[in-house]
Amino acid sequence: MSVNFDEIIERRGSHSVKWDKMEAVYGVSPENGLPMWVADTDFKPPQAVNDAVTALADHGIHGYYGGDETCRAAVCGWMQRQHGWEIKPDDIFFAHGLGAAISLCLTAFTKKGDGVIVFSPVYHAFAKYINANDRVLVESPLINDNGRYSMDIPALEASLTGKETMMIFCSPHNPGGRVWSRQELREVADLCARHDIILISDEIHHDLVFPPHKNIAMPLAAPEISNRLIMLVAPSKTFNIAGGMTGCVVISDPELHKKYSNASIAAGVHNNRYGMTMLEAAYNNGDEYVADLVEYLAENHRIFDEGITKIPGVKSMKLEATYLAWVDFSDTGMPMEEVKSRVEKHAKIAANYGETFGNGGKNFLRFNLGCRREVVIDAVDRLQEAFKDLQ
Ligand SMILES: Cc1ncc(COP(=O)(O)O)c(C=O)c1O
Repeated sequence: MSVNFDEIIERRGSHSVKWDKMEAVYGVSPENGLPMWVADTDFKPPQAVNDAVTALADHGIHGYYGGDETCRAAVCGWMQRQHGWEIKPDDIFFAHGLGAAISLCLTAFTKKGDGVIVFSPVYHAFAKYINANDRVLVESPLINDNGRYSMDIPALEASLTGKETMMIFCSPHNPGGRVWSRQELREVADLCARHDIILISDEIHHDLVFPPHKNIAMPLAAPEISNRLIMLVAPSKTFNIAGGMTGCVVISDPELHKKYSNASIAAGVHNNRYGMTMLEAAYNNGDEYVADLVEYLAENHRIFDEGITKIPGVKSMKLEATYLAWVDFSDTGMPMEEVKSRVEKHAKIAANYGETFGNGGKNFLRFNLGCRREVVIDAVDRLQEAFKDLQ
């Protein structure tokens, strides 16, 4: 193992949102509660990442960062090795995280009042960025087919008004963990081409895919839409370095490239020394780590799913990717207020509320399994106990 994922690392009092804000948000104390909400893991990154940060601290000078060629090369190398996706170093922009990148894309490529399509339920911040930029959220509900999401492209197409100018696509999907097939990717790309829609493909979760599934980068599935495609990728989820606030925006079309460049300059974006240093070290040295991590997470899923489905009426979606279990409580027949109260007050677990992910999410909770195995086992015990009257 490249890293011991079972190592106990105290995160309380370390400015961790997941640990240090859970009491304020959920009323669950970090003393004996389990934080299973915010999507970061409790794992150390590859040793090379921490060594690089230590070298920065040892050098002791923290001025402006310049000369990002080695970072670009690291991104290109990773995408080529891990995803078979060849990118040109100059097509990459570095952003202050992918949330910031999405917001910049909204300002660069759309105008106030434009419709922006998402497939819901989906990562809750998409709606936040769309609304805060005064664009109109257009939700295309996913079909939940026996615990597996699929898109309803004909229904979406029939509902289009002509005001939609952008789609924010999550691939693999958060939540629900779908790895979209080549055919599905092509349907999305074709729809965008037919209706002159800019496609943002947010592939932040693309490294954490469970065999035999394989994520296909959108440019490989639909090379002909490069004139309308913005790719978002980052090492933040994979290597647990989201605090470095550094992600990549890859744009090969010259016109879109220029527009994004202007928006990025207008927003005063500079590279973050710590984020860039971690990104470079992770992408250059993380291959073995990601293989180990995927194996570890797959077992966390297996244990969680097996345990949770023993509770009558509770179903966890079969994840093809991500460490985010998406659990459906509909068949318990319980109001969600009761479910949440049991999870938080009885099981003492903080999990994301499904309704914040938009249409179709309200009977779900999302549990973060990017934690030690022992915590997953404990969570299953606590949940079984909290709902034991249903047995
Ligand atoms: C699909 C998706 N995009 C973007 C983000 C946020 O990225 P960042 O932390 O780089 O802003 C997340 C975080 O959970 C996510 O799930």
